[in-house]
Amino acid sequence: MSGAGGPRAVLIGTMGAGKTTVGRLVAASLGVGFADSDELIEEQAGKSVQDIFVEDGESAFRALERATVARALDEHGGVLSLGGGAVLDPATQALLASQQVVFLRVGLADAVKRVGLGTGRPLLLGNVRARVKQLLDERTPVYEGLARVVVDTDGREPAVIAAEILTALQGDLA
Ligand code: S3P
Repeated sequence: MSGAGGPRAVLIGTMGAGKTTVGRLVAASLGVGFADSDELIEEQAGKSVQDIFVEDGESAFRALERATVARALDEHGGVLSLGGGAVLDPATQALLASQQVVFLRVGLADAVKRVGLGTGRPLLLGNVRARVKQLLDERTPVYEGLARVVVDTDGREPAVIAAEILTALQGDLA
């Protein structure tokens, strides 16, 4: 059962796709709230995503992420953005089948530029460019398979991307 009717849109994509920035803009335009799965996890755990990875391990983070995303899909009525790896979970994929999923696509050069040194992103430790490339290669087909709408973000301002999302989803979001 969907508490608040579920999110108006769910943003997916890899690190550096701009999910949080664009999600906030889309939510503001719609006059609804915004939630980000990483922030929800941090609130609940009382520590940063980075600390969860280091102290508890990635599988503990993924279990928290699965539960947090399931609850947010049920309870959050605004715009929801998901951490880049959340969609790899089969249970999460099943829940997303009935959602307005928007994939923010980004190429290697822009993704690397946007994540900078990768600070706060444990999966990027080491060679940031090589890690981002690997994640893009592995995950892009998953993102594309789950998306109802795909928006290219390379070289584009967040406001322009947000406007395209609103237009694309207008019929469903109205
Ligand atoms: C991850 C992406 C991060 C965060 C965690 C793992 C991933 O979220 O959930 O560091 O697996 O791609 P963002 O995509 O919001 O940076």
